[in-house]
Amino acid sequence: MIIAVVNSKGGVGKSTLAGSMAAWLHELGHTVVLADCDSQNSSSEWIAEASPQVKIARYESADQVLDGLPLLRKTADYVVCDGPGSQTETSRALLLWADLAVIPCKASIFEARALAKNTAFVRQAQTIRKGAPVAVAVLSMVGKDFRLTKDMRDAADALKLPLAATHITLRQAYADAPGQSTLVWKMGYREKEAAKEIDTLFRELLPEASESVAVVGMTRAKAKMKANSKR
Ligand SMILES: Nc1ncnc2c1ncn2[C@@H]1O[C@H](COP(=O)(O)OP(=O)(O)OP(=O)(O)O)[C@@H](O)[C@H]1O
Ligand SMILES: [Mg+2]
Repeated sequence: MIIAVVNSKGGVGKSTLAGSMAAWLHELGHTVVLADCDSQNSSSEWIAEASPQVKIARYESADQVLDGLPLLRKTADYVVCDGPGSQTETSRALLLWADLAVIPCKASIFEARALAKNTAFVRQAQTIRKGAPVAVAVLSMVGKDFRLTKDMRDAADALKLPLAATHITLRQAYADAPGQSTLVWKMGYREKEAAKEIDTLFRELLPEASESVAVVGMTRAKAKMKANSKR
């Protein structure tokens, strides 16, 4: 399965979500490649240290994505692609191969309106591919007192894009994790809320990935054993 985390707007949380998702899937016992499609290489440098068993691929252009992704998908259960912040052609290329598009969006009305540009790409890909990829927006960097206002709900409705029920809160832990070469669920009890929300979000987005497994943080070997015993 190919998952593309895309939004041509910069700094909305794509690399944070993509890197975390790749490590999370790996910890559940799946084979995973993180395809870093951003020349800043933020997510691949982070995950190479924080979860070294996740395989890494790097693509620097739309052509590399179009040629490389179909081959890469044969090598792993999940290919998680971290989209670039500006290279719109690369984002379009990702949408032509992705099964699932995850679109992080900051929780502000300006950002929701700016998202209209990105959803046009999603619609184009869905028209060409007769419905694929499935697309879902995720509100990221949501303030503690945030409530989904009518403005925001209207903007999301206008985009005709389903919004994940789970939001990612603005928390220091997400910003600190890469600098400490770790993931929020490995940061101890103090970060249990972050660990819980990201686990809940990924279970919502990828229910089939976590079907047989109860807790993230379970060792890979244990998860694999559990998966095998179900077969
Ligand atoms: N939920 C969060 N709470 C606090 N900080 C966050 C959160 N998510 C991301 N950040 C921080 O915000 C910054 C931007 O996040 P990130 O790099 O994931 O965005 P991006 O969309 O990949 O950016 P770019 O378009 O530049 O690639 C980073 O410093 C990251 O650590
Ligand atoms: Mg990024």
